[in-house]
Amino acid sequence: MPLLELIGLSVCVDNKRIVEDASLSLNSGEVHVIMGPNGSGKSTLLSAIMGLRNARVCGGSILFNGLDITNTPSYERAKLGIALAHQSPPEIKGVRLRDVASAMAKKYGCSDCTLLAKNLFVEPFMNRSLFVGFSGGERKKTELFLVMLQDPKLAMLDEPDSGVDVESIEVIARVIESLRSRGTGVILVTHTGAITEKLSRIDKVHVLIDGRIAYTGSPDVVLPVVFKFGFRKGLEVLSRGV
Ligand SMILES: Nc1ncnc2c1ncn2[C@@H]1O[C@H](COP(=O)(O)OP(=O)(O)OP(=O)(O)O)[C@@H](O)[C@H]1O
Ligand SMILES: [Mg+2]
Repeated sequence: MPLLELIGLSVCVDNKRIVEDASLSLNSGEVHVIMGPNGSGKSTLLSAIMGLRNARVCGGSILFNGLDITNTPSYERAKLGIALAHQSPPEIKGVRLRDVASAMAKKYGCSDCTLLAKNLFVEPFMNRSLFVGFSGGERKKTELFLVMLQDPKLAMLDEPDSGVDVESIEVIARVIESLRSRGTGVILVTHTGAITEKLSRIDKVHVLIDGRIAYTGSPDVVLPVVFKFGFRKGLEVLSRGV
């Protein structure tokens, strides 16, 4: 049984249909990459899988471990093991990273939290309010740290590499590898090859254009074409079977 199955999923934001008829199936331990032009609906799709209220399902369904979670609230989805590292996490004044981290460690158990905090370079922000004044890269690493603390079954990472320095991209790639090796399914949204080339295995790449999954294929086939030709021209090349 797949860990996550999207069946003809459409997602509406403020009554505007942003994602249309998306279907995909992801197994535990798989890494799927979603790419596509700005505004094509990648973050909206992840928000809908997480059950965030701004991204309303307006067609189709979401199954998690065979369970229909289409109408399940986001906190229940989090309890089931779904985690989202946001593209732009909101600032939460007065809530220290340390307090959130220790509450999560207590709930989910975390044998290597201290090492994880060290490896993801988040130790210096432990006493600061969540994301308040964090730099772009600091936000990304902190989001990933919080996702790791949740010990998820499905980790959705929305551009974890954007605005992140070279050394940290290496670390983020290793974190993704460790998620995969412990059987977590990973959906990675990215615009660059900086992270994809550091991953030892990517199972599928989905290209999202204008809210539709326009192409799904193996990374060896899709990534070189997309990076060379871009999305729309790349898709023509791919559909010609080159
Ligand atoms: N409230 C809204 N009303 C109208 N359009 C909206 C609203 N919220 C989001 N959108 C549009 O939905 C589209 C999809 O946005 P989304 O953030 O999912 O794109 P994305 O693929 O993640 O892009 P990026 O690569 O820039 O992160 C965008 O065109 C955005 O402007
Ligand atoms: Mg986005």
